[in-house]
Amino acid sequence: MTIRSLFRLGLIALLLFAVGCAPPTTQVGTIGSTPLQDKYSTYFTIGAATTPSKLAAVQNIVDFHFDRLTCENDMKWGVIHPDAGTWNFTAADALADYARGRGITMTGHALIWHNQLPANNWMFTGLTPDTDGARSALKTIMQTHIDTLVERYYDVIDNWDVVNEAISDGGGYRTDSPWYEYFGSEEYIYWAFRYTKDALEAHAGGTGTSLGKLYYNDYSVVNSTKLNAIIDMVKWLRQDPSTPPLPAGQSPIAIDGVGLQAHWQMDWPNTTLIQNAINAIDGAGLKAKISELDISASYGSSGTINFTSELAQIQANRYAAIFSVFRSNNDKISSVTFWGVSDDQSWLNNFPVSGRDDYPLLFDRSHNAKPAYYAVIDFN
Ligand code: G3I
Repeated sequence: MTIRSLFRLGLIALLLFAVGCAPPTTQVGTIGSTPLQDKYSTYFTIGAATTPSKLAAVQNIVDFHFDRLTCENDMKWGVIHPDAGTWNFTAADALADYARGRGITMTGHALIWHNQLPANNWMFTGLTPDTDGARSALKTIMQTHIDTLVERYYDVIDNWDVVNEAISDGGGYRTDSPWYEYFGSEEYIYWAFRYTKDALEAHAGGTGTSLGKLYYNDYSVVNSTKLNAIIDMVKWLRQDPSTPPLPAGQSPIAIDGVGLQAHWQMDWPNTTLIQNAINAIDGAGLKAKISELDISASYGSSGTINFTSELAQIQANRYAAIFSVFRSNNDKISSVTFWGVSDDQSWLNNFPVSGRDDYPLLFDRSHNAKPAYYAVIDFN
């Protein structure tokens, strides 16, 4: 063996050793090597909605990229409080413990909503709509529910979707909500905020934990009719001049912000509409949060579309434009949360067409970063 071949062998051995010692790069390479949470650390936290079973399949992505979590379903009334005196904290606790373990915060979703209620409708059973009896019973039930959730999660939840989707697209209060029906008016909205605020204040001081923020959360907030109605509701709660009275003897409540769900499409809403909504919310003295972001690629299609590389790039451009608006408004936006982590886990695979694949998120069905991810981190 010549000196030259010995040298070559040594070089190969050195290379093999170096490869063996190098940290595994495959995962970081496929999920993107720039953590969203780091890239956006000076702007806002970046969250994802998930469930424990979904998280298990994408935990490497969540660990690496997200510094905020929302329970996609597990804090909703039907899951967590399915019957009188029956609580099912397992899934919510699992996500809360994951968040606590990482020292990240959560968004509490959703205390009062007309959807995903208990299957047996126990809260309303036996009550007569729009009577003092119904109002009194529901106030007690509502307060117990809110007290219990705040008591359990106030240390890890920094903002709460106290009321979700209470305003209709046409601008009035939604009358098809059983909360509205049984209270006989929008009065239930006041009590939801009142009980949440009281419960949070009961935990202020002593623990050093800052008060969780109170949010109203809805879809299509960029539509001016709905937006104006939301702002009117906020003004009513804080009793701006010329607003309807609160329940007798009750003091005003200044809520903190409005959640824009942001279930958006490839061509709606345009960035002007988004900017206008952020400005209006800021103008009313509130924070905006982007609470449920996704961009459906399949909107308007009755079946699964072919998500070509061209479509992936159009979606990436769209995400880039939207995040550019978010960044330039970071003083007005408290957080940005995606409604899911990877395309295979999105609710849009079952809505509005059941079983149709959609491609709305930053990570694909194999849990690799999509062009949309690279578009979101592509700025200086
Ligand atoms: O858990 C049951 C399961 O036991 C049953 O076998 C199965 C059969 O359909 O249903 C399962 O429940 C589903 C649940 O998600 C959990 O997967 C419900 O059918 C389904 O309707 C429900 O969808 C959720 C939807 O809210 C309900 O309105 C979505 O996952 C969730 O992403 C979605 O989230 C909402 C936000 O909370 C509020 N804003 C709109 C957003 C999208 O609708």
